[in-house]
Amino acid sequence: MKNIVILISGAGSNMAAIVRTARLGGWESRLQARIAAVISNRPQAAGLAIAQQQDIATAVVDHRSFADREQFDQALAQAIDRHDPLGRPALVVLAGFMRVLTPGFVAHYEGRLVNIHPSLLPAFTGLHTHQRALDAGCRVAGATVHRVTAELDNGPILAQAAVPILVDDTADSLAARVVSQEHRIYPAAIAELLRH
Ligand code: GRF
Repeated sequence: MKNIVILISGAGSNMAAIVRTARLGGWESRLQARIAAVISNRPQAAGLAIAQQQDIATAVVDHRSFADREQFDQALAQAIDRHDPLGRPALVVLAGFMRVLTPGFVAHYEGRLVNIHPSLLPAFTGLHTHQRALDAGCRVAGATVHRVTAELDNGPILAQAAVPILVDDTADSLAARVVSQEHRIYPAAIAELLRH
């Protein structure tokens, strides 16, 4: 069985979309894959309750309890690897996980670490992507699923979706249009990875 661990920091709507697709799409029987755990760096992340309602194991590794990034990332990796009998989950999925990861962490999960970013990369890496797209006068925006490399919001692109920017858009209205596409492309990109 391929074990998938999902990392979140907040609402967890992408995580919920992945869980829903995994259930509806029969990933356990068709892809020999299961969502083994959902881990948050924030104890109050709303997504934790969603995962628990779905009978998925949850854990919190609170970044504020660690002196530096290396120590946090080591504890996080231990919490992740515990959810696979061989200590090697097939996939670690960043789904609204708002921490910059150390090169050591990224190297440990090389080839097994994916992220979704709310822009059409390579445009608008980092934060506040929707407001920046509006400020730049962009006519389209979107989201990107990509493999994670040591460089922030970089790495080979696995999937993208574009949406129009409308004249009366705010960052919030644009974010809502983009996130509904995220919920479509992220589960599909993960299923595609699991097939290979
Ligand atoms: C998404 O827009 C994702 O692309 C970004 O943060 C947001 C997380 O939303 N990294 P959610 O926690 O999945 O609801």
